[in-house]
Amino acid sequence: SLNIQNANNGQAIPPTMHGVILETNINRGDDGGLYAELIYNRAFQENGRSLDGWLRFGEGSITLSNNQSLSSALPVQMKFTLNETSTTPSGFKNGGYYGISIQPQNYTASFYYRPSTSAYIEGGKLTIGLSNLDGSNIYGAATIDVYNAPVSVWSNFSATISVFDAAQSTQNVFFVAFPPNSRGDFEFNLISCFPATFKNRTNGVRIDIAQAFADLKPGFVRLPGGNDLEGPTIPERFIWNNTIGPLQNRPGRRGTWVGYNTEGLGIIELLTFVEDIGATPVLAVYAGYSLDRKAVPQDQLQPYIDEVIDEIDFITAPADASRMGALRKHLGRSEPFDIKYVEIGNEDFVATSTYSYRWPAFHNALSQRYPNITFIATTTSSIPSPPAVDDHDYQPPQFFINNFRRYENIPRPKPKVLVGEFSTINARDSNSLPYPTLAGAVAESIYRIGFERNSDVIIGGCYAPVLQNVKATQWTPNLIPFNANLVVKSTSYLAQQMFGANLGNIILNSTATNSIMTHESVQKGGEGDGKLGNLYFTASKRTDSNTLIVKLVSVDRNDTLVNVQIQDSLASSEGVMYILAGGPGVDPSTLSNTIYNPNAVSIITKLIWATGGKFSITVPPWSVVVVNLPL
Ligand code: AHR
Repeated sequence: SLNIQNANNGQAIPPTMHGVILETNINRGDDGGLYAELIYNRAFQENGRSLDGWLRFGEGSITLSNNQSLSSALPVQMKFTLNETSTTPSGFKNGGYYGISIQPQNYTASFYYRPSTSAYIEGGKLTIGLSNLDGSNIYGAATIDVYNAPVSVWSNFSATISVFDAAQSTQNVFFVAFPPNSRGDFEFNLISCFPATFKNRTNGVRIDIAQAFADLKPGFVRLPGGNDLEGPTIPERFIWNNTIGPLQNRPGRRGTWVGYNTEGLGIIELLTFVEDIGATPVLAVYAGYSLDRKAVPQDQLQPYIDEVIDEIDFITAPADASRMGALRKHLGRSEPFDIKYVEIGNEDFVATSTYSYRWPAFHNALSQRYPNITFIATTTSSIPSPPAVDDHDYQPPQFFINNFRRYENIPRPKPKVLVGEFSTINARDSNSLPYPTLAGAVAESIYRIGFERNSDVIIGGCYAPVLQNVKATQWTPNLIPFNANLVVKSTSYLAQQMFGANLGNIILNSTATNSIMTHESVQKGGEGDGKLGNLYFTASKRTDSNTLIVKLVSVDRNDTLVNVQIQDSLASSEGVMYILAGGPGVDPSTLSNTIYNPNAVSIITKLIWATGGKFSITVPPWSVVVVNLPL
């Protein structure tokens, strides 16, 4: 039986307890994923500047040109040439990042355009639209009058494409068509098409993926990486001021993991998204080390520290009191963002010989300037004890089960711990697990119970990586796999969602006993304290709503009957029990939600009734269970 002590005070659980990482670029998580832009290679940056993804149709040709480019950030453009007067509709098309989902809604398309002196368009109008691959089925189109576009000068055009019927497949294109009887050279850049976005933000994020983030109720979002913060080389690091302002001024950079990173989803867009889903940002800042294992020498570090000071000022300074705050306001965001946590670097346990000077240099400068921010180190080796440290664990399920008590045995009160990346990988080959499994979700939930129970030192934890375009994968497993029109809520996602959506603000004392134990005999750290046999548990409370939350995770092969007794409460109320479990005889290590079978397992909801402070529940084999009961 489980004995829970009702109280109104107890060890506080920070609201950041269960979070997510938003590592840009990995698995095409931002471009081709969260970023709602549909056009692949919109500014010809992919594959060392190319026309990758663009196809011509009808007559004419497309080539790259770098003559008088749109901006120094976007130095090449596409030239469409009709040497002969055309006889059919002609132009070019783009199939998106592995397909385009076409739904009944308005799409906002735009491009920069420059005609040559001899260019002629019959009627002066271009047609843009969304169609199937061969153009035989046009789902929506708009005309753009370019008649008055000045010769040899870039002009920006935009139009709304209204679609009324959904396309059955995602094998579709965005096209730009010239009418027959046209002729000449026409240049284009930054060819863009957005569907409706989350919260209707301009240059915003894809609704279904954003909603999946929001539904996790994440306490924090760690961004922009991960390795993508560090970049392949020092010049290819995340440089915050390359990610702000008009898109034609954002050069982007070589993707750390894949392709090119447009950085259309820049620092303001990322932080706005975090705000839109009600989470706290954990801002990771570049600390002078990149993935080619080169570190900035100690005597050359100052400009990199200044870069970070400008970044944090830009994000947090009042609009009217500083140069950087004024810049942010000028770019349309007057209110400062609220930053409570800044992480200095990423995984510097691989570079301790230089972190030994990089951490103190960054930390001294930043902590003096921003006394209200908690700074997080990425290792404790070779540096003086930091205020907080980020732990990363990619491990087989048994590790998380065995390490249930790991955070009971660490120094207190500091360093505090952010488990900034963790997830279950395959026991034999670290990258061979294609999707999270139920066994993984169960093991991760046991680790998470350990976070909650140690919330005096744990800031929070997050599964990593989160996003995976299944057509562009460098790393598996991931929390949210997706393609052009489908988002998968993996087993690990569902387990985390149960924890994030049911978060108490204080821990309640709880002990479990079997027939030969008493609650009084339970020792701290022993059987009955957070764990009894194959059952792991924690009890907490939301004091604002007077709600009891009990989390139970079983790695038993059989059902476990749990009789719950709430001390100091005679609650007789109706509550809810959420269950993530496989069916009878299902092997939890092979049960996954996949892009082909997204709903193999889902959360089951049952009603429960407490009478006089007592209720009983059955916890299924290999399952995650959360009980939410008004007291
Ligand atoms: O989450 C994927 C990668 O794992 C992160 O980029 C890096 O920090 C870690 O090695």
